Formats: sequence, C-alpha cells, structure tokens
Amino acid sequence: MRGTAMLTETTTTTTEAPIEISNYRVPDEELPEFKDMKFENINELHLDHPGAHDLEYRERRDYIAGLTKNFRLTGKITDVDYSPREQRVWRYVAEELEELQQKYASPFYLQAKRDLGITTDRIPQLSEMNRRLKELTGFRLAPIEGLVETRGFLSWLSYRVMLCTQYIRHHSQPAYTPEPDIVHESIGHIPMFTNPNFADFSQFIGHGARIANDKQLEELGRLYWFTVEFGMVEHEGDVKAYGAGLLSSFGELEHAFSDKVERRPFNLEQVINHEYTYSDMQPVLYVVPSYAELKEVTREYIESFSGK
Ligand SMILES: [Fe+2]
Repeated sequence: MRGTAMLTETTTTTTEAPIEISNYRVPDEELPEFKDMKFENINELHLDHPGAHDLEYRERRDYIAGLTKNFRLTGKITDVDYSPREQRVWRYVAEELEELQQKYASPFYLQAKRDLGITTDRIPQLSEMNRRLKELTGFRLAPIEGLVETRGFLSWLSYRVMLCTQYIRHHSQPAYTPEPDIVHESIGHIPMFTNPNFADFSQFIGHGARIANDKQLEELGRLYWFTVEFGMVEHEGDVKAYGAGLLSSFGELEHAFSDKVERRPFNLEQVINHEYTYSDMQPVLYVVPSYAELKEVTREYIESFSGK
C-alpha cells in the first residue's frame, strides 16, 4: 500500500562527508540507490481531489503510481500507455496554457519546451525527457507516487534528480489539481532543468536540504516556493514567469500578472522569511534579475549552513 511506504529514520548529515556546495554532475554509479529512497509521507488521495469519489480514476491513478516501484527496483522508467481520455485532458490543458505562456512565460522556458519535444498533441513520457535532460545538464527524472516530505524531496536535487509523478489530473476539472501530476511536472518543472544556471541552483537547494537544521529547512522550502514554484524573472525590461506553479495553471499565471499581485525584486532574506499559504493565490511574488544571480545568491546562502 502506498500509504504504508513509510520508513523509520531520515538521513542525517552526521555520517556524511561534508558536502561541497558546487554544481558537480553525479555519475550513475554514484547515485544513492533508488530502491533505498526514503519516504515519510506519501499522501493518499485527498478528499477534495476531484477524482476522490471516482473509483475507476483512483484505480488508474494507483496503477500508474505503482509503476514507480519498478523504477526503484530497476532504475528504469516505465512508460505509461495513456488512455484517449487522459490524452484529451492533456490536450485541453496544454493548449490553453500554451496560449497564455506565449504572453507570460520566460523565453528560455518556451524554447526549452520545444527542445524537449513537449507539445500540445500528446502526453510526453518521462523517459524521453529524462534522456534529453541528462545530455543537456546532467539532470535526471525519477518517477514517484505522490508528495514526499520536504527534506526527502529536496535532497534528491542534490544529486541532480527531480522526483516526478506520472498520472494525470481528473477529467472533470482539467484546469485544477490539488496534487502534482504529469501536467505540472512536464509543463511546469521539467523544461527549466535544461537551463544550466537553474539546474545548478536547484542542486544547491538540494545540498542545503541535506545539511539544513529544521529552521533552515523551512527557509529552504520558502525559497523553493518563491522560485521553483512561483518565480518570475526579468527579461529585457519586462517580467516573465519561470515557476512551475505559475506555468502549469491558467488561474495562477493570469493572476500573477494582474494588479492584484505585488511583484517585488528578489531579496533572499525577505523570501526565506516570507510565510505563505498553499491554498490561496499568491499576493506577493519575487522577480529575479537572472538565473545566474539566483544561483550565486543561493550558493552563498547554503554555504552559510555549514559555516564555510
Ligand atoms: Fe511543483
């Protein structure tokens, strides 16, 4: 059962060699064993999920989630044979988002989406995107059943690995999902990992998660939230979106550029102390001058964890 995939201890830093806060690539043979991946809280489907009372949907979602177990045993991503209905959900969401993104998304992101072959026609397979990512920035994708607790999830970034779900949201509400799904992962997150600076920045967050105390981990969660999920970037005097939570939601993306949102210049101190709620639309967002700058500020910040 998914919900019982719980282990008793989390990795602490005491037995590990000090982590160098750098952007090294991790060879396959030096990855931690995927079969030893430590889960603390793989959530069951919440009752407010649009598919919570649809037995057929739940079975399908759990079947796709179950494929991730093969991955942990073999290290190989199993492709999903998505159904015509799942493909329809994708086409609807991908087309709507594509239109909005032309207006609001970071040009880097738009190009990356094309480079990875993510189209509105069909759901992309993690295996294809993983191959391309590995070539470009040494980032990898690892399928996962659902939400993972913060330290576990972020720590995988330290090995340049992003945990990704493969199932898709419920067809009754294609514009909405309370949990990550293949739309959120592949339209939201995956293209940005082809950016070398963004990939390095993500890895630094991962290093941070492995050595952070609880307070620092909370701060890192906020940094992740206001960048990887809801980040905006300057582009030729304009502001564009690069955060996955913005890029994968019509509502969030439009809202982010409305006059209901205060768009502030990125300031690390402010961001790591900025409390937010998951459920509401964000009233404040932060704009980074560039991914390179975000990377350097984050490096310094993480270096301060270990007192270096
Ligand atoms: Fe996300």
